[in-house]
Amino acid sequence: MTQRSHWGSKIGFLMAAIGSAVGLGNIWRFGYMAYENGGGAFLVPYSVALVLAGIPLMILEYSLGHREEGAPPLAFSRISPKWEAIGWWMPTIAFFGINLFYAVVIGWCMNYFVFSFTQAWGADTGTFFMSQFLQISDGVYQLGGIRWPILFGTLLTWLTCWAICFREVNQGIERASLIFMPLLVVLTLILVGWSMQLPGALAAIKEHYLSPDWARINPLTAAGGKVWVAAFGQIFFTLSLGFGIMITYASYLPQKTDIVGNALITSVLNCLYSFVAGFAVFGTIGFIALSKGVPFAEAIKSGPGLAFVVYPEAINQLPAGKTIFGLLFFLVLIMAGLSSAISLVEAFCGSLIDKFGFSRGRTVTVVCLIGALGSIIFTTRAGLYILDIVDHFINNYGLLTGGIAECLFVGWVLKAALAREHVNRVGKVGLPRFWDFLIKYLTPILLTLVIGFALVNEFSSCYGGYPASALLLIGLGWLVGALVLALILSRKRGLA
Ligand code: PHE
Repeated sequence: MTQRSHWGSKIGFLMAAIGSAVGLGNIWRFGYMAYENGGGAFLVPYSVALVLAGIPLMILEYSLGHREEGAPPLAFSRISPKWEAIGWWMPTIAFFGINLFYAVVIGWCMNYFVFSFTQAWGADTGTFFMSQFLQISDGVYQLGGIRWPILFGTLLTWLTCWAICFREVNQGIERASLIFMPLLVVLTLILVGWSMQLPGALAAIKEHYLSPDWARINPLTAAGGKVWVAAFGQIFFTLSLGFGIMITYASYLPQKTDIVGNALITSVLNCLYSFVAGFAVFGTIGFIALSKGVPFAEAIKSGPGLAFVVYPEAINQLPAGKTIFGLLFFLVLIMAGLSSAISLVEAFCGSLIDKFGFSRGRTVTVVCLIGALGSIIFTTRAGLYILDIVDHFINNYGLLTGGIAECLFVGWVLKAALAREHVNRVGKVGLPRFWDFLIKYLTPILLTLVIGFALVNEFSSCYGGYPASALLLIGLGWLVGALVLALILSRKRGLA
């Protein structure tokens, strides 16, 4: 078997882990969630989720990967072979459930980066996005052919992932992250500064982002409960937890390593990035609302709508520097997205390499080819519908079940105390005993409650108004498919 890869430096590892965490979700998802869920008051459930689930799980994933020196399947099977399927479930869900469409969204960003040169989106950015760019079909079952510019951007994304992951981690992912992340921070700060001085920006930030609406976060009301659920979901997604990514990244760490310190730095910096990026999002929307004379609530949109409709609209309204602002914004999205996409590729490839002893080069080539082929479905004219359904199911169920399984596995099968002793033996910052309690009881219970809430909502209305058959076929089909694949892979005997 080939020699195990290692990070060249602590900062290289940190940049790669933060690069995975900081992604498309930090830039538009966080801002919108905060707005929808009580403005500044959202920061309370968000911080609680960070402390009670985010940081403890980050420590757990780091300690598991580091202690067992393996990506999830190998790490799980070294502790108990019976649990290996869970180790496959996480990177499989990450790859087929997220990576395939994540690459397509980065492909959209690449197209919009080019459009920025001439503001090709025209005056009506909403119609442009849906009818001209996506050429969205009439329903989820009408694929309506491939959108070639989107496919082109997507293939470029896969090619970049391939070129980076093909090399050993210290030369590929580490080097790329050491370039991407500092650049990302500088560009984001320029964007934030620029957005904040636009007319209407500061007032909107003060009124909608920083002023807490305490009544909205009372967990004893139904609406307040939803806010807490949203906060937990967002923390999981934003920290890239439950995918096995952090387990894989930590498996390349040297023997002496400060797990608690690294986990704190990764989690806190990621959330700080979201908080700061929120100023750009809220400021820009405040600017549009003022220039168009519409209320703030009318100007804000979530997800793709925010990046591909609202931002181009804001760029149209700028008095000067339209092209540069557009290039800057889409470049920030592309870099944030790519550094997350490579972590998804690595978690899946690392799992295969570890377990079966395949060579890195071949594995990465085959996996990226499969990924590029699999992404094609999302580049069709029904791509947005399918993406929305898959994202909903993976986020609400796939990730959280991975998180619960990890807690139970480390808490009860390995024993939390053993994992804690390992952390304390190799690192400087000590892990208190309270962590055992979180991992064994509190975090899995909270996550189960969150899934429970999501299930209740699922059954009370058909998600997004899609036909129930499409939800079953696509969303559940995806989850079941990943489960079957995980089981098959766990049956195949590798090197262990
Ligand atoms: N953390 C990323 C974000 O906030 C999402 C992501 C999760 C990306 C897992 C890759 C892997 O956008």
